[in-house]
Amino acid sequence: MRLILLGPPGAGKGTQARFICERYDIPQISTGDMLRAAVAMGTELGRQAQVVMDAGDLVSDDIIIGLVKERITELDCAPGFLFDGFPRTVAQAEATRDAGVDIDAVVEIAVPDDDIVQRLSGRRSHPGSGRVYHVTFNPPKVEGVDDVTGELLVHRDDDREDTIRNRLATYHSQTEVLTEFYRELEAEAGAPQLIKVDGTQSIETVRDQAQTELDKLAGSS
Ligand code: AP5
Ligand code: MG
Repeated sequence: MRLILLGPPGAGKGTQARFICERYDIPQISTGDMLRAAVAMGTELGRQAQVVMDAGDLVSDDIIIGLVKERITELDCAPGFLFDGFPRTVAQAEATRDAGVDIDAVVEIAVPDDDIVQRLSGRRSHPGSGRVYHVTFNPPKVEGVDDVTGELLVHRDDDREDTIRNRLATYHSQTEVLTEFYRELEAEAGAPQLIKVDGTQSIETVRDQAQTELDKLAGSS
């Protein structure tokens, strides 16, 4: 299974990625998590990326494409993988195609802008694993603490209201077009299947609907 999760900031990509990766036993490749790890390690890439991420803009296509190409050569990607937050521009989608990376399905999680600020301002994340919670919609068992490790949860730097608004604007200007990009491809042989899920439903309903469609795909391959 080679899958792409598409959707605006806060749509629930990271949340659903957990379920999908566990079910099909594939790694989650979150470019956002990779960049945040570089920021935490204080690498040159991390220093450059932090400024861009804090502004709600996109890191350059060259850097991202290089990171992803390298990542998918690792052994754990042999049975497949799930891209979370990649591709995010037409250039990234085209580079993926040009590299001969065949995608089985693109799962789009649709959520209107009005819901996003509330979701992201209440999000709490576990940096070590990428696990995400929400103070109201998906609280951890103990407030402020990761369920699995017991470590403290953080409020992401880019989850401030002004940055959230910029991230949404960036999504609409550069990423939303990818739905059309993949829809146009659908007519071609071997093109990825498009699966659209209403992301305003509960976390479990979104999970079940995506799973039903992906199970059919897994069964037919
Ligand atoms: P990235 O980390 O990918 O952030 P994003 O796309 O903005 O998405 P988020 O991680 O904020 O949201 P999500 O959809 O994963 O939602 P989540 O499951 O956490 O990227 C960060 C930055 O890195 C970018 O801005 C850019 O600068 C850079 N970057 C990354 N990739 C790049 C690329 N390819 N090219 C260039 N630059 C790149 O859920 C959100 C909250 O909602 C949580 O609290 C969750 O509990 C809650 N929630 C989830 N589902 C539901 C539901 N159904 N009902 C109620 N609440 C829900
Ligand atoms: Mg995420």
